[in-house]
Amino acid sequence: MEKVALLTSGGDASGMNAAIRAVVRTALYHNMEVYGVNQGFEGLMAGKLLPMTRGSVADIIHRGGTILQTSRSKPFMTDEGRKIGLDRLAAAGINNLVVIGGNGSLTGGFEFSKLGVNVIGIPATIDNDIVLTQSIGFDTAVNTALEAINRIRDTATSHGRIFIIEVMGRHCGEIAMAAGVAGGAESILIPEIETDFEQLIEKTNQGTLRGKLHSIIIVAEGVYPVMELAKQVQERTGRDTRVSILGHMQRGGTPTAVDRILASCMGRAAVDCIVEGTRNVMVAGYWDKIQKIPLAQIINAKRMPELSMFELARILSI
Ligand code: F6P
Repeated sequence: MEKVALLTSGGDASGMNAAIRAVVRTALYHNMEVYGVNQGFEGLMAGKLLPMTRGSVADIIHRGGTILQTSRSKPFMTDEGRKIGLDRLAAAGINNLVVIGGNGSLTGGFEFSKLGVNVIGIPATIDNDIVLTQSIGFDTAVNTALEAINRIRDTATSHGRIFIIEVMGRHCGEIAMAAGVAGGAESILIPEIETDFEQLIEKTNQGTLRGKLHSIIIVAEGVYPVMELAKQVQERTGRDTRVSILGHMQRGGTPTAVDRILASCMGRAAVDCIVEGTRNVMVAGYWDKIQKIPLAQIINAKRMPELSMFELARILSI
C-alpha cells in the first residue's frame, strides 16, 4: 500500500486547511495510508507524524491557518537536518511527501527529493511569488487588504487626508498591485519597480489641485520605511498624512471561494501525481487547467510583476 505524508511549511496562508482536506481525502479514496506532519519540516525532523482519517479533516475547509501548524525551519536547510527527516520517513515506511507552502518550502522540498523521497509541492503563500501559478492564500489576503482600504478611504475622504497603507509581500509586490488596482489607489509602490519619489509627490499634488478628497498610496512591505515616507510626503505636499500597516491580519481569516477551489483542485492533483507515478513536481493552476511542473523549474525562477497592470493602475488613478 502506498504511503504519503503531508505538511504545511513557511508562513501560513488561508486555504491551507482546504488543501490538507483535499490531500487526505483523495489519498484515502485511493486506499493510501496518509500521515499529517505537525509543525512543518521542524516536526518532520522530530518525527511528529499522525495518521489521518476522513474525520481528522472534517469541518476545516472554511478555517484559516493550518491545523497541522507550520514552521520556518533553519535546521532543515542543512544536509544533516534533511537526513534526520529522511530517517523519520523511512522508519515509518513512507516515501511520498506533499509539501504545502511557498518558495522557501518548495526549495526545501526540492533538496529533500534529492535523497530519494518523492516530493509533490502545492503552492501556498499570500505573497504569490511562485512562478506559473496563483498560490493558495493570495486571493484571501488581497480581499482582506481591500476591505481595509475601503474602510480607510472613508476616513481619508472625511478628513481630506493622504493615507499610506503598507501591505505584506516580502520581496514581492503582488498583493500591493492587486489590492491597489482593486482599491483604486492613487499610487502603488512595489519592490520590483524603482519608485520615482518626485513623480509620486507631483501626482499627489495634481490630485489635490483637481479637488481629490483623499489620496491612497499602497506600499509593499520593505520598499520604504513607511513612517519616514509619510513624514516626507506630508512635508512636500502640505497635507495631513497618516499610516496604516495591515500586517498579519492579511494572513488569517476564512479563505475565499477562489482559495478553497484552488486548494481542493491542487490537493487532489498532488495525490494524482503519486497515483500515476509523477515525481518531484509542483501542481499549478485549477479547474481543468492543472499542470505538473518539475520542482527544479520552479525554485530558482523569479516571478516578475505584470507591467501592464502597473500601467493600468497609473492610467486609472490620474
Ligand atoms: O511569506 C508570507 C509573509 O507573510 C510575508 O509577506 C512576510 O514578509 C512574512 O511572511 C512575515 O513572516 P513572519 O510571520 O515569520 O514574521
